[in-house]
Amino acid sequence: MTRGSDISGFYRLSQEERISVIADFLGLKREEIPLPHPPPPLPLENSVGYFPVNLGIANYFLIDGKDYFIPMATEEPSVVAAASHGAKIARVGGGFKTYVGEQLMLSQVVITEAKRELDLAQLTDVVSKVADSQMPSVVAAGGGFRGIESEKKGKFLVIKLWIDPADSMGANTLDRVAETLAPLFEEATGGKALLRILSNRVTRRIARAEVAIPAEAVGGSDVAELDEDRAVTHNKGIMNGVTALALATGNDTRALEAAAHSYAAKDGKYSPLSTWKFDGDKLAGRIELPVPVGVVGGSVKSNEVAAFCLRLLRVSKASELGRVMAAVGLAQNLAALMALVTEGIQKGHMRLAARTIAVAAGAQGQLVDIVADELIKRGQIRVDVAKKILESMNQGKRDA
Ligand code: MEV
Repeated sequence: MTRGSDISGFYRLSQEERISVIADFLGLKREEIPLPHPPPPLPLENSVGYFPVNLGIANYFLIDGKDYFIPMATEEPSVVAAASHGAKIARVGGGFKTYVGEQLMLSQVVITEAKRELDLAQLTDVVSKVADSQMPSVVAAGGGFRGIESEKKGKFLVIKLWIDPADSMGANTLDRVAETLAPLFEEATGGKALLRILSNRVTRRIARAEVAIPAEAVGGSDVAELDEDRAVTHNKGIMNGVTALALATGNDTRALEAAAHSYAAKDGKYSPLSTWKFDGDKLAGRIELPVPVGVVGGSVKSNEVAAFCLRLLRVSKASELGRVMAAVGLAQNLAALMALVTEGIQKGHMRLAARTIAVAAGAQGQLVDIVADELIKRGQIRVDVAKKILESMNQGKRDA
């Protein structure tokens, strides 16, 4: 009988054994499973191999006078081309200017049944020492404990710990500090710690990017201020670039998404993360977004492709990666808005899809564009059609 997924110790099997279980489950041969044989050794739980996602490189990025190639890992074919296009236009106006301020992340300890208030004035010194003792490498890199606040919320006492995680994203550090300090808070309040974890709401680690483009570079077209109904899609387009760079550099894309969308709603109404305004003969764009990202620690360290992508970026500070991320988000947004107000999004997407199909059908070199054009002309963007086009071209060559 075929086994189901109720396999205790599945995680203890080798990768090849896990693939065999999956093959049995689907009634397939090993060769029919599109995973390398043998699979690459990965230390991850329940791994059966890699999931391929395109790693593309966007160019034209000039950020604070420094030239960047931007690595982007994404399944959406148009993202990398759009980022380069946005950056190329931005370059005409001197590129992006970026800013970061404080780099603080928040960790929470939630206490229930507290019998006493916290005496913060009395506790701060010891909390600071214990917290810093839990993150020596962060302290050595210039970060560390930065402050404590507490707030009564119904039957809960919420203790907030502000930490500068220096060049790491900080999640592990913040969780560890909260867990280590929880018994101290329990003792001080006579209560019980329920939660001890970072908050993914990031309000004090913000990057800003700005760009001013000569109006003629955008064809003079009116990239109108967007209304609220558009905000979610507008921000999704920004995050196309931000998360692609995050994934390529081994960062936590979900943490960025969570932080970005909560930041977009910070004033009580979900709003665009970027704004565009005509200022005289210039189109001025500005983005502000939370950047909980790191250049050390976590998967940044263990993934050699991510390490290479950071090398390509030539960044060694998390704050610089955050600034670059803001610029990439703004470039992505500019390209999307320009496409929307001119030819629409579909045309560009169709062209990329047609090129992808042409390559899948076996087209190479100049033939890729020729086959893609023909697919668009016929309105049939399909591999079987692309193969037929290629065959007839080869036939034509043979007959000639
Ligand atoms: C598609 O992935 C992203 C866009 O919808 C963004 C936008 O509409 O601004 C093109």
